[in-house]
Amino acid sequence: MPDHSPLVQSLRTAVAGAPDDVPLRLHLAELLIAGGHHDEAVAEAAVALQHAPGDPQARELMARAMGVPQQAPEMSAQAPEVPPQAPEGPPSPAGFNWKAAEDQVGDVVPPRFVETPKAAEAPQTADGADDPGDASAWEVEAPHGVRLADVGGMQDVKDRLEAAFLAPLRNPELRKLYGKSLRGGLLLYGPPGCGKTFIARAVAGELGANFLSISINDVLDMWMGNSERNMHEVFETARRQAPCVLFLDELDALGAKRSRTAHSGMRNTVNQLLTELDGIDAGANEGVFVLAATNVPWDVDNALRRPGRLDRTILVLPPDAPAREAILRYHLRDRPVANIDLRKLTKATDGLSGADLAHLCEAAAERALLDSARTGTVRMIGMQDLTEAAATISPSSDPWFASARNVAMFANEGGMYDDLVTYLKKKRKL
Ligand SMILES: Nc1ncnc2c1ncn2[C@@H]1O[C@H](COP(=O)(O)OP(=O)(O)OP(=O)(O)O)[C@@H](O)[C@H]1O
Ligand SMILES: [Mg+2]
Repeated sequence: MPDHSPLVQSLRTAVAGAPDDVPLRLHLAELLIAGGHHDEAVAEAAVALQHAPGDPQARELMARAMGVPQQAPEMSAQAPEVPPQAPEGPPSPAGFNWKAAEDQVGDVVPPRFVETPKAAEAPQTADGADDPGDASAWEVEAPHGVRLADVGGMQDVKDRLEAAFLAPLRNPELRKLYGKSLRGGLLLYGPPGCGKTFIARAVAGELGANFLSISINDVLDMWMGNSERNMHEVFETARRQAPCVLFLDELDALGAKRSRTAHSGMRNTVNQLLTELDGIDAGANEGVFVLAATNVPWDVDNALRRPGRLDRTILVLPPDAPAREAILRYHLRDRPVANIDLRKLTKATDGLSGADLAHLCEAAAERALLDSARTGTVRMIGMQDLTEAAATISPSSDPWFASARNVAMFANEGGMYDDLVTYLKKKRKL
């Protein structure tokens, strides 16, 4: 969070109370620029421009907010030494040197709209993480605000999470009634960039639990032979921090590596993981909720999927329309946008992953920025920027579905991939 002066904070409150007051908002933008909070200033200037299109002061502030200060270290490092091309725009708004800006933009446009931390990647809270008293190298995030409600759309994933995982945990009476125990974890699988990690974090938020996310690749320490110990340490850390959602990302790394290096001792690491998971029975894992994720479930060791282990699977597909709308809204929320028809955009982006959509918004912002620098007239990110950017992005999950199709056709043992088959059929990909 940027450290704002009390004045900025009071102004923010005042602006929230009087959203139509343009001079007030511009005053806030001015202070934000002075404080170096350029992206926030852009957002305020954008709202001011929506209320007062063409207002010279608003435009001037927008220009300054978008203009990179000459001394900004990241820009000066990149500023080309070549002589500037003559800018052919209208006269520059006061205080902003378009010529220099255009130079700096050059061929490579740095992401001007620096991403504020995504909800899914909220900065780690100090508690628990980096605790000097905790010798382990694994960082635990304190409970945070991301809830399932923050996951846009994907209602069936949420329903299944609720039924397969959350309801029994929340409701011990129900658990007893149906004879369900706390045993076992959940495996999320699906194409890359479609929200597995985000959902795992939301589950932690839902349970009010700490969140320990580790990549199996980090646990694997092939040369030192430390993997088993690392695996044990991870679970021990989670147990110390209970209630804790332990998220094992890239679970397939265990299986895939085993087949590449037969003698690597991977079996021992898998066995260690099994032992740790089975600790759930013995009560050692009370309050430790294991979620795992993989893009290649067919590489996951079958032993891990037996009852009481990662015995439930949920397919996380590319975001549906409501999810895409939420993701687009999220990534555009602080950018200077005008007249965006989200519904239309949502339709035009079917098949794109969450990561693709983030990329799309960035590409559109870059277009608008480049255009502004070129013409010397600041303009908002418009629908055209987004649709044109969308036309150049192909769904990054396509290659995944190509492999998944084979598995669904030829290796759907025990109905493990029934959801996938249903989806592929619906999409006429099978
Ligand atoms: N339903 C959703 N609602 C809001 N944001 C979403 C949703 N699905 C995905 N996202 C966003 O999309 C981005 C990618 O999601 P995430 O990193 O969780 O994907 P992943 O499946 O874990 O990808 P990978 O396989 O590459 O690890 C994140 O920024 C996340 O916030
Ligand atoms: Mg992930």
